[in-house]
Amino acid sequence: MTDPRHATTPADAPSGGCPAHAGAVPLYGPRFLRNPSELYREMRQEHGSVVPVVIEGDIPAWFVIDYREVRHVLSNPDVFARDSRRWNEWDNIPLDWPLMPFVGYQPSTLFTEGDEHRRRAGAISDGLFAVDQFDLRNQSERIADDLIDTFVAAGEVDLMAQFAHPLPLLAVAKIFGLPEAETPGLLRDMMTTVNGDEGALEAYQGICATMQRLVAHKREQPGPDFVTRVLNHPAGLTEDELISDLVLVMTAAQQPMAYWIGNTVRLMLTDDRFSMNISGGRRSVGQALNEVLWEDTPTQNYLGRWAARPVQLGGQQIDTGDLLVLGLAAANSDPQVRPVSEAAAGNQAMMSFSYGEHRCPIPAPELAEVICQTAVEVLLDRLPDIRPAVNVEDLKWSPSVWMRGLVSLPVSFTPSYVSV
Ligand code: HEM
Repeated sequence: MTDPRHATTPADAPSGGCPAHAGAVPLYGPRFLRNPSELYREMRQEHGSVVPVVIEGDIPAWFVIDYREVRHVLSNPDVFARDSRRWNEWDNIPLDWPLMPFVGYQPSTLFTEGDEHRRRAGAISDGLFAVDQFDLRNQSERIADDLIDTFVAAGEVDLMAQFAHPLPLLAVAKIFGLPEAETPGLLRDMMTTVNGDEGALEAYQGICATMQRLVAHKREQPGPDFVTRVLNHPAGLTEDELISDLVLVMTAAQQPMAYWIGNTVRLMLTDDRFSMNISGGRRSVGQALNEVLWEDTPTQNYLGRWAARPVQLGGQQIDTGDLLVLGLAAANSDPQVRPVSEAAAGNQAMMSFSYGEHRCPIPAPELAEVICQTAVEVLLDRLPDIRPAVNVEDLKWSPSVWMRGLVSLPVSFTPSYVSV
């Protein structure tokens, strides 16, 4: 990866300087993790819609927490831009800063702006639009069945490790047309990367190498898959652009879907409104998925946007190069727009997929829903008496301010036989 502290900056990047953040709220630590919604409420009362915060390492940033304000930021990419090289804090950021994977500049679509972003994001969207959702559902059913077969006889399992984490990658591998022999290695590398385990850097390089081999393979043997479509797209992506965007799509899809599945199963197993229907399962899976996006979205807080010029926002003076953290979960809980819980069932205006030019590419949330809904439905069909194997209070959320998902989800059920 390029050293982002010394990367070539856009022409209008600032020379430095940060806002006065006296009294800034730490966006980390146990208090934040215990009850973020309560903290958002307090922040709103004390600071309004844009809160001066410090993130890991006491680095200053602005935390945008009102729905309308978040939408405003996302709707104005010329002012609130995406290229992290604009940041006026780079001189204070060590190379091993834990949040570097989110903000360190990479030549992927993620950090492009304007026409360049439209060219590259267009290729991704077009490639995803052509995915046959009927076929994806069938593939996802098969993947879910195969995973359940590996533990169905045991009567107990950690659903996060053995179902929710591997399933999204296996489904996306099908969308990519990845040869089966490559799947176990990619799965291993992806798990090491997203968990930040020892060897994460090598694992990330392993993902890149797999994508390189895949592109070479698709040049020789094109197929009816996403990679072949992006490869032949009129946007004419270079080899480097292609590889970094394939890695981006793989990694962007993985953890949010794993947590969406896990958070949904948790809700259905622990909330009477859903568990009443559990033997039928199917009636309420869609509602549970939607409720999770409002209440426990996997994508809680997002890094970020960088001010392209001085601007007023929510009564705060934002300077050129300041970092804005998007409070997606806080926006979802904004009392001004928040539908009451029951109404949330059909309302999809949540910020969980973000908004505007850089939002999660339009067909991706639909594909994610097909994959995650199928996964949960198959699980409830196959294990009709599935129940948590620990007290609800003992289920641990991953200690992250950025993503919300369970560390593990131990469940038990009546053992049975593998599917035929
Ligand atoms: C639960 C499922 C998912 C959630 C909650 C989610 C959420 C998000 C969010 C919040 C962003 C950031 C947008 C921004 O910067 O404003 C994003 C970007 C992105 N997502 Fe997703 N996502 C999900 C699934 C997927 C899937 C299945 C794919 C692909 C198959 C995908 C591909 C991408 C890509 C490529 C981007 C970068 C877009 C850009 O910067 O132009 N996501 N997603």
